[in-house]
Amino acid sequence: MESDADIKTTPRGFHCILCNVNLPNMPSLDQHVKGRKHQTLSTVRATRKTQEDHSVFVSGFKPDISQTDIAEYFQQFGPVTDVIMDKDKGVYAIVQFSETQSIQAALSCVEHQMRGLKLHVKPREKKEFKLIPKKKSDSQNLQQVLNHLKPELCQLFSVDAQMQCIVERFQLGENEKKARGLLVQLLQEIFVEFFPDSQILPFGSSVNTFGIHSCDLDLFLDLENSKVFQARAKSTTEQAGEGMSDDGRSEDSILSDIDLSTASSAEVLDLVAAILKRCVPSVHKVHVVSSARLPVVKFHHRELNLQGDITINNRLAVRNTRFLQLCSGMEDRMRPLVYTIRYWAKQKQLAGNPSGAGPLLNNYALTLLIIFFLQNCEPPVLPTVDQLKDMACEEEECVIEGWNCTFPSLPISVPPSKNTQDLCSLLSGFFSFYAKFDFASCVISVREGRTLPITDFLTENKEEEAMQEGKPTKTPYHSPKLGPLNLLDPFELSHNVAGNLNDRSQRCFQRECQEAEKYCRSLQYQRKSTKGKSWGLVRLFTPHGEVPHIKTEQLAISIPFKSASLPEVLRSQLHMAGDGFRLLWFQKVCAAVEGVLKGVLRCHLAPSTDAVFGEDSAVHAAEEMETTSASLNTSTNDSCDSVESQNEASPLVTAVVGAKRPLSSGSDASVSPQGKKPRLARRGKPDFPQWICVQKHLVWAGRRKVRRELIKDTDLRPEGSCMEMESQVTAHIIEKEQELKEPLEFKVQPQMVGGTESTRAVLKFEPTSDKGGVFHDFFHFLEPFLPKMVETLLEKEIGSV
Ligand code: UTP
Repeated sequence: MESDADIKTTPRGFHCILCNVNLPNMPSLDQHVKGRKHQTLSTVRATRKTQEDHSVFVSGFKPDISQTDIAEYFQQFGPVTDVIMDKDKGVYAIVQFSETQSIQAALSCVEHQMRGLKLHVKPREKKEFKLIPKKKSDSQNLQQVLNHLKPELCQLFSVDAQMQCIVERFQLGENEKKARGLLVQLLQEIFVEFFPDSQILPFGSSVNTFGIHSCDLDLFLDLENSKVFQARAKSTTEQAGEGMSDDGRSEDSILSDIDLSTASSAEVLDLVAAILKRCVPSVHKVHVVSSARLPVVKFHHRELNLQGDITINNRLAVRNTRFLQLCSGMEDRMRPLVYTIRYWAKQKQLAGNPSGAGPLLNNYALTLLIIFFLQNCEPPVLPTVDQLKDMACEEEECVIEGWNCTFPSLPISVPPSKNTQDLCSLLSGFFSFYAKFDFASCVISVREGRTLPITDFLTENKEEEAMQEGKPTKTPYHSPKLGPLNLLDPFELSHNVAGNLNDRSQRCFQRECQEAEKYCRSLQYQRKSTKGKSWGLVRLFTPHGEVPHIKTEQLAISIPFKSASLPEVLRSQLHMAGDGFRLLWFQKVCAAVEGVLKGVLRCHLAPSTDAVFGEDSAVHAAEEMETTSASLNTSTNDSCDSVESQNEASPLVTAVVGAKRPLSSGSDASVSPQGKKPRLARRGKPDFPQWICVQKHLVWAGRRKVRRELIKDTDLRPEGSCMEMESQVTAHIIEKEQELKEPLEFKVQPQMVGGTESTRAVLKFEPTSDKGGVFHDFFHFLEPFLPKMVETLLEKEIGSV
């Protein structure tokens, strides 16, 4: 391989030093080496090397010396193919010869002189060819901001407060807005010189109340009045003869070069670009992008470090910006939601196409998705666009390019929403809404605040085809470009603002919504961590790829093995179990957990048919079992039926004392003739239970009060330290309180993890049906209660021995 030296073997495959990429295996390495990036870089490197080998470095000449002067001077040592000069300062040059011998000749010359000055001629420095890392992208910058923000967010007391904090940190500051305003004013003054009566109007994030520090400055150059001016001037000139227009402007103004009524957008934009380049200080990198849906002139303002876009046919954008302003003015929760969701989408690489075009959502589309969700909350947070139209007065009527863009100009004209949900629940509501959304079969209409069947639009497509074929059609406008996500602009109803998305980006959006929904159901989202861990938005913002899935461990309760706190009898049993002590302890814990769920908290329990252990722990457990001593065999062999009626004497107590325990499903746990247990995990049957639990009562609510009433201050033992008492508390609650309308169903999967030093039982909880939204409260209650109760029950075992 030509580039063998570029490839390094690593523990994870290969690393290409030239391109700075990792390749996991040989086929991908082969593909990479043949690929465009590697090939281009190899060629560039080879060219650079040839240049280095054929050139000398020259310095010491006067700034007024030209490339030709230098080329002429060095011709005496051999044919010169190129002279590259330091562009800005003119203090050095690289002289390239066609033959390597010429270098020697030039270097061996004792003295070089040009116009009385001594030249320094040196061999070229041999520099290692390196790929220059790209400048930090916007998302890297945002990531940096978040890294700084993390501790602050974690300190806050609620998700609502975190969302408000995101707005404060990211929103455009007053000075930034002022600076943008001044630039707009300057541009207005300059453009009006060239296009009389023209107007430059900002739209988009700079002014729609959702702008962030680095956002673009979107501008619409309205030339309508200039067209009128031009037409008027033309007719006046024709009447008065050549020379001056009516207001004294010279005929050689830029307007005389172009007829605005007939010029193409590209022609006008070229002119706009020329004006920007020549007349606006600090503006650079000006270029026209005519391939965009709406052709645009892009520029950069050096001092403000600002990217600007100027369009000329975008009156609708100015109006829809007013609409976004109205939404944020009438609903205070809108800005925190938009900032948070925009940031989440950026982190997950769902929105913000790096170079403008691309298959991701744009911010406008994302904002419309948020508005649509808010229109569909119960009760709605925002009205539909049609409803807004009806709230407007006559003077507010507005039609642009045939589209009705009427809505009230002031938020005060819109009655406030009756919805009182907090930000935290609206945010999780957004994720749930789109996690389940049927994108394939409908078109989202923000105008009507409902989805429309996609089939309606398929017929329109047919009509469009018919129109193209010259056949008559009923539809007055072309139908939107349909795609995997169809989101109609609220005003330009033939425009699918998400028409650029491909299947993959739509799927990613929905998958990330599903992941976020799952996370929002966890305690880490809703409750501040008391241990200073990441919680709330911080975990939600984990960049794409860092945490592919929300781990189920996030809803886990850990019960550590603490030999010191175990009763003497159990300790000696564990001691006798030798290497198998961990398994024995784990079995006891499982039995106790089952006892708490079933006996103390009166959950209905059923074993799941799913395999229980993760592969590792199953094998681990099986290995443990193989070495289990006779005493352990005796203990585990005593099994019981655990899933019978909850009303019978708690099976847990018997299970814990080793009398009957179904930790293994029947024969699997039995002793083999050789005194060894079979390798259970390899048989594909569950070794340990995965409980499916149903809880019909809020047995965790108000426990303390009930306990106080029951014990009447005579017993000061803490919660979870007396099984009988806790069972009575549950019974009392069940008796007094109504059943949940929708019972809570959840799974519990026990696992034994950690080595000898850090053995612990981990109980993974997962809600399977939680229509009443009570699971998190239950889980929160269980977090301290369950380990404490297990401890109590393990002690109880001893009492019964
Ligand atoms: P962006 O998607 O860039 O939104 O569209 P933004 O809020 O300005 O966010 P940044 O610039 O990425 O920070 C800019 C404006 O372009 C118009 C809207 O007015 C939007 O606010 N637009 C965009 C449309 O009218 N239709 C579209 O499909 C997209």
